[in-house]
Amino acid sequence: MAKIKRIGLLTSGGDAPGMNAAIRAVVLTAAAAGIEVLGFRHGFNGIFSTDWQWLTPTEVKHCIQLGGTLLKSARCQQLQTHDGPALAGQLLTDLKLDALLVIGGDGSFRGCQAIAPFFSGQICGIPGTIDNDVDGTDFTIGFATAVNTALDAIDKIRDTADAFERIFLVEVMGRHSGYLALAAGIAGGAEQIICPEYGEEVDIADLVQDIQQLQREYGHGSYIIVMAETMYPAGAAALASELTSLSGTECRACVLGHLQRGGSPVGADRILATKLGAFAVEQLLVGHAHLMMAGEQAGQAVLYPLALTGERKKLADPYLLGWQQKLLQNSKPA
Ligand code: F6P
Repeated sequence: MAKIKRIGLLTSGGDAPGMNAAIRAVVLTAAAAGIEVLGFRHGFNGIFSTDWQWLTPTEVKHCIQLGGTLLKSARCQQLQTHDGPALAGQLLTDLKLDALLVIGGDGSFRGCQAIAPFFSGQICGIPGTIDNDVDGTDFTIGFATAVNTALDAIDKIRDTADAFERIFLVEVMGRHSGYLALAAGIAGGAEQIICPEYGEEVDIADLVQDIQQLQREYGHGSYIIVMAETMYPAGAAALASELTSLSGTECRACVLGHLQRGGSPVGADRILATKLGAFAVEQLLVGHAHLMMAGEQAGQAVLYPLALTGERKKLADPYLLGWQQKLLQNSKPA
């Protein structure tokens, strides 16, 4: 196995809090092993536009607490063109890279696989996305922070919802998965959680029945619904207005959107990012990381094939999903 002397690093797709902590861990671990790190800017685009910078311990000083990514992020159209992957592989070779590390989600890992046939070095992924929808790792970098950010908003919404005895529909991100919705809904004490794991469509009649049942039993009060994005194609505002007219109680929508992607990473994300960044470099050094993702399972750093990271086998916590559903069923009239 050829000795690793230089690695490329990039952040790709939706940015996630903790990406900087991962960059830092990669750079510090590499520097300690005498390896150069070249950071591409704006995701895979930086390969095509030769937009890159050297990353040394100086560049990553005091960045562990910063949200966003110092390398910038983006999705990359050129990589999806017919000739894109071959060109990317050639450009990586021209830069004399022995390996490429990509911090991102499963879409970014598809990009890694596309380039692999045209590049002789190792390509390894590090899971970074607020969605936590990557198979093979219990958690992705950024998820814990996004849950806390959503919670902060839900707690504040609870105050105003209580004061006005209103229904609130809080839409969270997560793309096609309900991880964020379930976690934020459970931790925020939401009365209802709407996410793909409970079904493809919103059952409005069922929601209205539950709202009215709770009002009969406990009087009017606040009622918070946490909904995963994509669950109601007409949008949260449209669903809120429908709920207002059918339930007879005012419902307001609050779409949390991109604020869930920002902010200083919580401790859990900084630690996960540090662990996975360091582990990925160490695995590259021993030649085990090619087409692998550095993830964490049951507290242990593991390698998992990149090809399997997007299989969607990973389920939002089945115990919590079942518990929430049982609560709702028990609140229905017999
Ligand atoms: O994958 C991260 C994510 O924030 C998803 O939760 C969301 O669906 C998507 O990215 C939003 O993408 P964009 O920033 O391009 O609007």
